[in-house]
Amino acid sequence: KGMTISMLQPSTNVVAPEARDALKRALAKKAVGLVKSGMVVGLGTGSTASVATEELGKLIKQRKLKDVVAVGANYQSRVLARQFGVKTVDLNDVNQIDIAFDGVDEVDINKNLLKGGGAAHTMQKVLDSAAKECIILADQSKVVLQLGTTFPVPVEVLPAAISPVLRKLVTLGGVPEIRSALRKDGPVITDLGNMIVDVSFPNGIENPAELEKYINLIPGVVENGIVSGIATSVLVGIQGGDDIEVI
Ligand code: 5RP
Repeated sequence: KGMTISMLQPSTNVVAPEARDALKRALAKKAVGLVKSGMVVGLGTGSTASVATEELGKLIKQRKLKDVVAVGANYQSRVLARQFGVKTVDLNDVNQIDIAFDGVDEVDINKNLLKGGGAAHTMQKVLDSAAKECIILADQSKVVLQLGTTFPVPVEVLPAAISPVLRKLVTLGGVPEIRSALRKDGPVITDLGNMIVDVSFPNGIENPAELEKYINLIPGVVENGIVSGIATSVLVGIQGGDDIEVI
C-alpha cells in the first residue's frame, strides 16, 4: 500500500496524546503478529517498542508462541522484557536476529529514520542492522518530509573527545548541544558510558545517508541517530482509523 504525499505534511500529522496510545497498541499488535515460534526477536526502546514487548509477552503467556527469545537494545528494554515474561539472551550468544521491532523519532518516505530520543540509538542500530527483518513502528506524527524537521540528530560521543567532536560537527553545518540530564546536574550518560550531543541542521538534511556517514567519520563519534538503509518496513498508524499503512 502506498503512502500519499498529503499524509506527509507535518502540519496534518499532529496526533492527540490519547489517540497516540491507541495507535501504538495497534502497531504493536500488528508487529508481534509477524513473530513465529523459535524466533530470536530484537527489542528496541521507547514507549512504542515497550508496547510491542508487552504484546509479545502476551502471545508467549497464551502459548501462541513457543521458544521465542529476545535481545534487548538497552538495560531498560531487557528489564521490561523480563517483566512481561519474554526471555532475554545476549546478542553475542545468538547467530542472528530474525526480526527486530523499534520505534522512531522521525521517518521519511524513503525509510530513512531519525532515532536516539532516548539516547539508545547505538545498540538499536546494531540490533536493527543485525536483524533479517527490521520493522519500525511509527504513529502518523513521526512521518516527515525531511529528517531533522522536528528533532535534532543525536550523536553518541566519547566523553574524552567531546570538544574536538563539537567543533567538527559545526564544520558539517550543525548546531551541536550537549544533552543534559533532567532533574540532575550534568550531561546524559548513555548505557555505554558516553555523552549525547543533539545536533540541529538549520539548513535541513538533504541527504540523510551522506550525513550519517560523515558524522560517523569524526573520530570520537560512536554512532549517530540517522539510520538509512536498515528498515525493512515501516508500519504507520493512522489517526482516526484502524488503518495501518506500510512504507
Ligand atoms: C530511543 C529511540 C526511540 O525509538 C524513539 O525515541 C521513539 O520513542 P517513542 O516510541 O517513545 O516515541 O530511538 O533512542
